[in-house]
This record gives sequence, structure tokens and C-alpha cells, in this order.
Amino acid sequence: MIRYSRVIGTGGYLPAEVRTNDQISQTVDTSDSWIYERTGIKSRRIAGPDESAASMAEIAARQAIDAAQINPEEIDLIIVATGTPDRIYPSTGCLLQQRLGIKNTVAFDVQAACSGSIFALSIADQYIKSGAVRTVLVVGSEICSRIVDWTDRSTCILFGDGAGAILLRASEETGVLSTHIHSDGEYEDLLYCPNPQVAIDANKHEAGYISMRGNEVFKVAVNTLGRIVDETLEANNMDKADIDWLVPHQANIRIIIATAKKLKMSMDQVVVTLENQGNTSSASVLIAFNEAVRDGRIQRGQVVLLEAFGAGFTWGSALIKY
Ligand code: ACO
Repeated sequence: MIRYSRVIGTGGYLPAEVRTNDQISQTVDTSDSWIYERTGIKSRRIAGPDESAASMAEIAARQAIDAAQINPEEIDLIIVATGTPDRIYPSTGCLLQQRLGIKNTVAFDVQAACSGSIFALSIADQYIKSGAVRTVLVVGSEICSRIVDWTDRSTCILFGDGAGAILLRASEETGVLSTHIHSDGEYEDLLYCPNPQVAIDANKHEAGYISMRGNEVFKVAVNTLGRIVDETLEANNMDKADIDWLVPHQANIRIIIATAKKLKMSMDQVVVTLENQGNTSSASVLIAFNEAVRDGRIQRGQVVLLEAFGAGFTWGSALIKY
């Protein structure tokens, strides 16, 4: 009997505050038209002072639990992907476990920048397929607004806050068909966020803000995502035409269009949320997946390709028969 990880519920959360391109243009030298043309972003959500990665993760997780109609006690494993944890430790996974009030569960975080939720999905799938666990909660939750330098016009325009969740359960029915994850630590300098309290040089305290050479990151991202699409299709003996939906990481509309072109997919088959959300890092793929499930675009039985690229570099994909 083949054991699959089947999606039994999804959830998502976006904070209430909207920050538009026009608002950003009042503090740095940029414009709505520059940002929209280069990125496809018009506005992003900003978490309130009382919100955190764990508090947003809880809202998205509870939605997924309600959708799946399960008791939280049935969750065997919680994996939270985040680059903006509430605390260095305990993990946001443990904080989420506390908030959900469940005891007999293992919980930990995955740090793979924007690819975090794909890495978390991959780990969840291996644990379920091996028979070690039955039910896994995967959450991506990020407060990017607090690691963005709001005086740096090349990065502050890109990011937003939010959380997405997915519940997977062991099943004989198809679910996750395959996952593919990769890392290449050679590119640290192109995209990083220092830990200000643990500077590499103990005497040099760096600000804890995202630093990115956007143009170079852009080129590597387009190439790499093209390759991961081929790898995923080959591993499943599938053709481009077999994919019903592409749910890409929401970094830049031009990267998304390039990947859709590679798949010969019309943009009608691509789930795009970045216009009003920006790049929510590890949360973006799960937020987009949740939205398309809830509004009825993604239907049971359809084949969905999730992919992401982020700092590390890290990149990966998950092919799911929903
Ligand atoms: N408004 C106006 N001008 C700007 C802005 C801005 N907000 N930002 C940069 N510029 C200027 C630059 O200073 C530069 O000016 P110069 O030519 O006088 O030096 C010019 O615009 C061109 O800059 P580029 O960086 O070459 O612009 P590009 O077209 O590459 O767009 C962008 C920049 C949007 C950041 C793009 O490179 C990008 O989206 N990169 C990929 C981001 C990404 O995918 N990251 C990975 C995931 S993130 C993660 O894992 C945390």
C-alpha cells in the first residue's frame, strides 16, 4: 500500500494594516509606477505591535484545523517555517504548540528563508510516508516588516507580513506526489539578514536588516526555478500539460511570469497574490495555496505545483494532487 500525505485543511492570515506604494513613496525616493512595473506589487500588509510570527501562525493554523474538522490533539508534528521567529528559542513551533494547547506533539522550526514552507512540506511528507507520524501541521509565518530597513528603497518595497497553514494526513488516496529541495551556501552575500546580537565580528554590531543585491538574485532565481520545474516533471513522468495550477513564491511578478512561460501555462492557471501582499517570504506559497483552495480555483483531483526560491540560496518544489 502506498502511503501519501493528503491535504486535509488549509488556512491563512494577513494583518489588517495596508501599506501602499504611495505611502512608501512619501518616505523614500520611489514611486507607485516604478514599484508596480518592476515587481507587480501595489501594497503589502503590516503586522500590528501586538502581533508576532506565533500569533499569526495560530490564526492560520486554527483555520486549517477547522477546515479539516479535526481535534488539535490529533496533530503529531508541527513544523513552522519562519525567518522572523518571536524568539531565537523556544522555536515558533513550540510557541504555536503552546497556543494550540496541545501536549503530545513534536514541534520545531525550519529556517530556509523564502523556501521555508516548501522545505517544511518536504520534511512533513517524508515523516508521513515513512509511517512515523499520521498528521502534520505545516505553517509559514513572517513579520518581514520588522527586518526591513524602511530607508532602503531597494528592499522595503518588496516585503509584507502574513501566515499560511496546511494540514497533511496519511492516506491511501493521492496527495503529495513528490518534493524537491536544494541549497547552495555560496551566495550568502547576495541576500542575507544579519543577527544583530551575534555579529560575525563580536565588536561590530550590524543592524538586523535584509540586505539584497536584487538584480543578481533575480537572475539566479529565474534560472533555478526553471530547472526545478523540469526536475519535478521528470521525477513524476509528467508533462507540462499535466499541471493544472502553479502556486509560486510571490517575490516578483516578472519571476512568476518567466516560470509560467517555461511551463507554457497561461497566467489564468497561476495563483498570484503579491499585488496586495508583497513578498511574505516563507508564508507566501501557503497563503496563495489557501486562497485558491478557498475561492474554489483549486479543485480536488487537480495537480498543483508549488515552488519557491530564497536566501541561502535555497529552492524547492512540491507537486500535489489535491
Ligand atoms: N524606486 C526607484 N528606483 C529604485 C528603487 C525603487 N524602489 N530600487 C532600486 N532603484 C534603482 C536602483 O538604485 C538602480 O538605479 P541606478 O541604475 O541609478 O543604480 C535602478 O533602480 C535599477 O536597480 P536594479 O536593482 O537593477 O533594479 P531591478 O530591475 O533589478 O529591480 C528588484 C529591483 C525589484 C529588487 C528586483 O531585482 C527583484 O525583484 N529581485 C529579486 C528579489 C527576490 O526574488 N528575492 C528572493 C526572495 S527574497 C528572500 O528569500 C528573503
